[in-house]
Amino acid sequence: NKGTYKHYMQKEIHEQPESLTTTLRGRLLRGGSWKAKTVLLGGLKDHLKTIRRSRRIVFIGCGTSYNAALAARPIMEELSGVPVTMEIASDLLDRQGLIYREDTVVFVSQSGETADTLLALEYALENGALCVGITNTVGSVIARNTHCGVHINAGCEIGVASTKAYTSQIAVMAMLALAIGADTISKQERREAIIDGLFDLPNKIREVLKLDQEMKDLAKLLIAEQSLLVFGRGYNYATALEGALKVKEVALMHSEGILAGEMKHGPLALVDENLPIVVIATRDACFRLVWFLRNYVILLLSTAWHRHLLISNSKQQSVIQQLRARKGRLIVMCSKGDAASVCPGGGCRVIEVPQVEDCLQPVVNIVPFQLLAYHLTVLRGYNVDQPRNLAKSVTTQ
Ligand code: UD1
Ligand code: BG6
Repeated sequence: NKGTYKHYMQKEIHEQPESLTTTLRGRLLRGGSWKAKTVLLGGLKDHLKTIRRSRRIVFIGCGTSYNAALAARPIMEELSGVPVTMEIASDLLDRQGLIYREDTVVFVSQSGETADTLLALEYALENGALCVGITNTVGSVIARNTHCGVHINAGCEIGVASTKAYTSQIAVMAMLALAIGADTISKQERREAIIDGLFDLPNKIREVLKLDQEMKDLAKLLIAEQSLLVFGRGYNYATALEGALKVKEVALMHSEGILAGEMKHGPLALVDENLPIVVIATRDACFRLVWFLRNYVILLLSTAWHRHLLISNSKQQSVIQQLRARKGRLIVMCSKGDAASVCPGGGCRVIEVPQVEDCLQPVVNIVPFQLLAYHLTVLRGYNVDQPRNLAKSVTTQ
C-alpha cells in the first residue's frame, strides 16, 4: 500500500525515520547514570568472542548492500581492531578468493536471496569461516544458512532501488561494530557518542527529508544531462558510489561515484564547465571539537584520530579548489552552516545537511541523493519502482 505517496520508492524514502526507529528498537541500552550505554544484538551475543578473535572480518554483498557494508567499514575497523576487507560476491567467486576458517564473513543482503551472495555463503561455509548474516527478510536463505546474524527490521521494501534498507543496514553494521568493540575501555567515550548519535538519527533523517523540494529543483536543472559525477572519501566514499547508483538505476542517467583521492589519477580529465559534479564535503563530528583553534595548534594538540579527520576534511576542500580551478560545475554537499566556507566567493550550488556523528553521516548524506534520483526519474518520465531491465531480487547467476 502506497498510502498518500505516488510511488513505493518515494514512500520508502520518506518512511526512513520510522524504519530506522524499528531497526534500532530494543537494541540500544542507555543504562542508568552509573551504567554504560551499550548495544544488544540478540542474535550475536553468543558469537561475539569468536568474532573478536577472528583474523579478518570480510564484508560480502552486491549492489546497494555492498555499498552499505563499505559505508560501515571504517567504523568496523576502528572499533573492532580487526582488519576489514570487502568482497563483491560475484568477484570473490570468480577469483575463488581466499577465505580462512579464522575469518568472520558478514553477508549483507536486503532480500537474503541474491544468488551471488548465496553462492559466496556456500563457499565461505565450505571454507570453515564463521558466517554472519545482515538481512531484512526473516526466513530467507541467507538468514537460515548463516551461523548467526541480525535482522535489519526495516519493513518490506518494494521499490527495486533500495533506499530504507540501505540506511538500516548501515545502522545495524554500526551497532555490530559497537558490539564487537564493547570491551575496549579506551573507546568507551567514542562508543557512547555513537550510541547517542544512533538514538537521534531518526530526527536527523526527518530534518534532511525537508530538502525534498530543493532536490526536486536540482533535478529540474539536471533533467537533460547525460552524466553526473559524485566525489566522496572516507566515510562518504560509499555515499558517492550509492548516490551514483541511485541516479543510474532509476533515472537511467550515466552516473559515477569516484573516490576523491583518485581524482588526479584520471577523472580530472573529464572536468569542464558542462559536466555536473557533486562533491561530498560534510564535516566530521570530531573536527567540531577543535573548530576554534588555528590549524597549526590543532595539528600539535590533536590526537592522531582528530588529525586524521582534519586532514581528510581539508583534503576535500582542496578537491573543491582544484575542480573550481578547472571551471567545474559544482554541487557541494556540506554540513549546515558551512556553505560559505566550502565554496568561498560562491559559484557552486550547495546542499546543506545536518551534521551527525562522523560514522553515521553516510546515513544522512544518502537521503538527498535518493530524493534527487526519485525526482529525476519522475521528471524524465521513467518507471520509478521498476526500472528498465532490473529486478528487486536477482536469484539467478
Ligand atoms: C528476536 C526476535 C524478535 C524479538 C526479539 C526479542 C525473530 C526473527 N526476532 O530479535 O522478534 O522481538 O528477539 O528479544 O524472531 N539470524 C541469522 N542470520 C541472519 C539474521 C538473523 O542467523 O541473517 C539469526 C540470529 O542469530 C538470531 C535470529 O536469527 O538467532 C533472530 O535474529 P534477530 O531478529 O536479529 O534477533 P533479535 O533482534 O534478538
Ligand atoms: C539487485 C537490486 O540488483 O540486488 C539492488 O536491484 C540490490 O537494489 C541488489 O542492491 C542486492 O540485493 P540484496 O537483496 O542482496 O540486498
